[in-house]
Amino acid sequence: MITIAIDGHSSCGKSTMAKDLARSIGYIYIDSGAMYRCCTLYALDNGLIAPDGTIDTATLEQRMPEIHVSFSLNAATGRPDTYLNGECVEERIRTMEVSSHVSPIAALPFVRAAMTAQQQQMGRQGGIVMDGRDIGTAVFPDAELKIFVTASDEIRAQRRYDELQSKGQHPDFNEVLENLRERDRIDSTRAVAPLRQAEDAVVLDNSHLTIAQQNQWLLDRYHECIERHS
Ligand code: DC
Repeated sequence: MITIAIDGHSSCGKSTMAKDLARSIGYIYIDSGAMYRCCTLYALDNGLIAPDGTIDTATLEQRMPEIHVSFSLNAATGRPDTYLNGECVEERIRTMEVSSHVSPIAALPFVRAAMTAQQQQMGRQGGIVMDGRDIGTAVFPDAELKIFVTASDEIRAQRRYDELQSKGQHPDFNEVLENLRERDRIDSTRAVAPLRQAEDAVVLDNSHLTIAQQNQWLLDRYHECIERHS
């Protein structure tokens, strides 16, 4: 069993393709972004982010050992739900409020160190598909298969907008677009493990691909990789 790292920009469909691949090859899927979202939700719930966005980093650092993230398969959806300290937070971590605070939280070195250690522990036996920003560069630099996904800003914003709407939220399109541009900026320019393409990653621009087409593309890369390693 190999390790598959899928990195790329915000809202480019990484998690959809990662989940579908994991399901079709019987691997475990881990959404590393959900883990940073849980840290953000914890900070919001505990009053550690002021209305102006300032983060109480000293308290958050002290409380990091209290943040336990886990995943459990939801039998109804066939997909994993995210749990923060035993509570299912799958919906609460996907709101615009969490999205607009997550990048500064994910840039904190002590947050990254804690989440990276947990991710490496989860993937230590291989047989895993993990998506995020630094999986192929920092978490699993030796992953056998690395994919870097991207798509145009407008297409990514439209996908996120549709997703929020389908969940009963009523976002403003321009706010969604601005949020993802700002997150990409912070994610790509932070000092620790910034978003960047690993040298040995295969690039996929899925701006004009259907979900079925991108799933097939990924499955083909997986089979090629397995052949190379057998
Ligand atoms: O994939 P996502 O949009 O759910 O990720 C949420 C945020 O978490 C994203 O803006 C950057 C951060 N993140 C990260 O820094 N490293 C990862 N491996 C995954 C996500």
